[in-house]
Amino acid sequence: MAVTSEPRAQEGGAAPRHRSATRSLLRLWPYVRPVRARLFGAAGVAVVASCMGLVIPLVLKWMVDGPVAHRDPGGVWLGGALLLALGTAEAALFGLRRWLVGRPLASVEAAMRADLYRHLQRLPVSFHDRWASGQLLSRATTDLMLLRMFLAFPLTFLVVNGVTILAGFGILLSQEWTLGLVLMVPAVPLMILCSLFETRYATVARTVQDQTGDLTTVVEEGVLGVRIVKGFGRHRSQARAFRALSEQVRSTELRKARLLATIWALIMTLPELAIGAALVLGTVRVADGDLSAGTLVAFLSTALTLRWPVESLGFLLAMSQDAATATDRYFDVMDAEPATAADRSRPAPPREPGEGGEGGEERKGEGGLRFEGVEFVYADAPPGEPPVLRGVDLHIRPGETMALVGATGSGKTTLTALVPRLHEVTRGRITLDGRDITALSREELRALVAVAFEEPTLFSATAGENVLMGAADAGREELLRALEVAQADFVHALPEGTDTEVGEQGLSLSGGQRQRLALARAVVGGPRFLVLDDPLSALDVHTEALVEAALRQVLASTTALVVAHRPSTVLLADRVALLSEGRIAAVGTHQRLLRESAEYRSLMSGQEAEEGEGSP
Ligand SMILES: Nc1ncnc2c1ncn2[C@@H]1O[C@H](COP(=O)(O)OP(=O)(O)OP(=O)(O)O)[C@@H](O)[C@H]1O
Ligand SMILES: [Mg+2]
Repeated sequence: MAVTSEPRAQEGGAAPRHRSATRSLLRLWPYVRPVRARLFGAAGVAVVASCMGLVIPLVLKWMVDGPVAHRDPGGVWLGGALLLALGTAEAALFGLRRWLVGRPLASVEAAMRADLYRHLQRLPVSFHDRWASGQLLSRATTDLMLLRMFLAFPLTFLVVNGVTILAGFGILLSQEWTLGLVLMVPAVPLMILCSLFETRYATVARTVQDQTGDLTTVVEEGVLGVRIVKGFGRHRSQARAFRALSEQVRSTELRKARLLATIWALIMTLPELAIGAALVLGTVRVADGDLSAGTLVAFLSTALTLRWPVESLGFLLAMSQDAATATDRYFDVMDAEPATAADRSRPAPPREPGEGGEGGEERKGEGGLRFEGVEFVYADAPPGEPPVLRGVDLHIRPGETMALVGATGSGKTTLTALVPRLHEVTRGRITLDGRDITALSREELRALVAVAFEEPTLFSATAGENVLMGAADAGREELLRALEVAQADFVHALPEGTDTEVGEQGLSLSGGQRQRLALARAVVGGPRFLVLDDPLSALDVHTEALVEAALRQVLASTTALVVAHRPSTVLLADRVALLSEGRIAAVGTHQRLLRESAEYRSLMSGQEAEEGEGSP
């Protein structure tokens, strides 16, 4: 984890590029479609409400030129009642709009979040290797919230205010076109300024959101790695890293705020000046007698009514920009290819000559787990580096247990990850009972193969639930048996037995306890093939012996590949394979390899290979 300095360079932090905000936002349509009726209905209601506000000045004009000028109190009361009714109706309609959009938009947000989550689960491990979790987290939370807010508010009000402004200017021009033109003078420079502002704002908005993602990553790592941070006394450097990043976010936010402030100042001042000019001009003309006082009152109050729709355009556009950026960030993830789509299109590898034709069928003598010329390169490996695995040939016979031994970093974990297809082989193939793993459906493969990794991953669920994750249809009986095999009887001593919550990542358990639960999860489904990556490393010698004794029973009935570092684990196996420089350098019994391979001897004894060379 990045305890000290900068966050990992991520695709998620991609440089902002120019693209049309409208095009981005249009991609939301599939999600909005189901609620379109309500959304359009709400927009319609808001348009009516807003235009109702425009009628108020006309009533005022009628009152000023009619009842007020003629000193007719009845007429004034009537006008007052009319104004009250209009105001109430306007308020009621805006309330109705709110009610119309609230629930459907919450469901849009939920649907998008569910899609994102589903997609993240289907993306290959290599995707998650590249993306920082904070970037994904911030997309699932902040960005989706921005989108909901956009759909609820700016989207409607851009339409509503647009219509209101058009209608308002129509009224203004029809009342007194010269004064109307005076008000329209600032429109052109405003539009130019807005479009200039939009491009610059888009860049800053994207930067803020990406930096927030990085910040989320640092916070997440700091919380998950709190033991390391405390253990190494790294609070200061961790806090520095956090401060540096949040300082960055802050200064970008400030840049964003300054941009907003500038544009807003212009948007507020220009119309204000225009209204002032119109007021002076209008007053002069009323004094001259070529304009009625009522018309001037109506004109000015219409202009004032339009002030809010015009002024709001600035931040409505800004919110839309934020939403467009959020949409881009959302679809950055959604556009990543899920694993299945990629492998489905991969043609089946050519068969070796002399092999039976009926692919996919179990064949005699072909059983077990077989690696054939398997080569693997990590997608993000530096170019020119030799592949981690280059030409691995290995056959584990049905029912056999094979230990996999190799120096650290030799590719053992990588090899085991290929069997459940967490990564795809780049060349060669892997077969289970003669069937190419790429020809099996994910479900079939999962039912056949169970895995336990070096890092035992537990979820914040009960101990029992964590184990039962290993099999779709296992019940209480299987659970108890699996716990017994994995020597995880400690579970029964927990406060609520198998129903005890193990906390986030199972951190309330010891390392060895976590490993044993992970092991129980691997064996609970009674899989045909078992792939264990150094599953006993955290156990004390005594517990290891117990687990091994129990595991021996399971291994007797399964075909297993077990990564081992210690002689005691190796002894569980029928044969041992030595992985060296990306190839299987030797296969044989423990005794034979001890005799014949200096490298194996050194790995098992910890001696230097040279020393071992001399002994018989
Ligand atoms: N996600 C990854 N992306 C790029 N390279 C990786 C990735 N994971 C592992 N590697 C590289 O692949 C090589 C093999 O790693 P692997 O984890 O398979 O070794 P290992 O044999 O399991 O080692 P150990 O005994 O320490 O567990 C290493 O050089 C490692 O740096
Ligand atoms: Mg490993």
